Amino acid sequence: MRPALLAFTIVVAASTAQAQQAGDAGSGRRLYVQCTACHTVEAGGKARVGPNLHGVIGAEAGTRPDFANYSDALKKSGITWSDAKLDAWLKKPASLVPGTKMIFVGLAKDQDRADLIAYLKDATK
Ligand code: HEC
Repeated sequence: MRPALLAFTIVVAASTAQAQQAGDAGSGRRLYVQCTACHTVEAGGKARVGPNLHGVIGAEAGTRPDFANYSDALKKSGITWSDAKLDAWLKKPASLVPGTKMIFVGLAKDQDRADLIAYLKDATK
């Protein structure tokens, strides 16, 4: 392969990989519909089956105010909600935190989780 073509191929491959990692908040907003039975995201939103998620990113797990129904497992997990932890959580909550009360099957697709996390970053801040 000629050097110029090779370089072009590498640049395209790298930007494609980046596009897949960066979540699409618009798509994440649609995916979030699955969470609304149990969660709200806005400041001062009501707790439902699960806690209001305002401010959750970067916070310690199990510390949202006005939610009394956390499992001991989540409270004692020592998790701080980073992108990587949220990704593992949304893939399969019970694998990251055995004994959690969040009954959710999980999102199998990497891109779906990236999109949902992008939405949550916007919506919960
Ligand atoms: C059937 C109800 C239910 C559904 C559906 C659900 N959750 Fe939860 N969620 C919970 C409960 C209950 C907890 C608290 C878990 C515990 O204490 O073990 C929780 C906890 C969380 C936490 C951690 C909160 C904290 O303060 O540490 C996050 C983040 C979260 N859920 C996000 C989501 C997202 C995003 C979705 C949609 C993909 C979702 N949940 C779907 C019930 C649900």
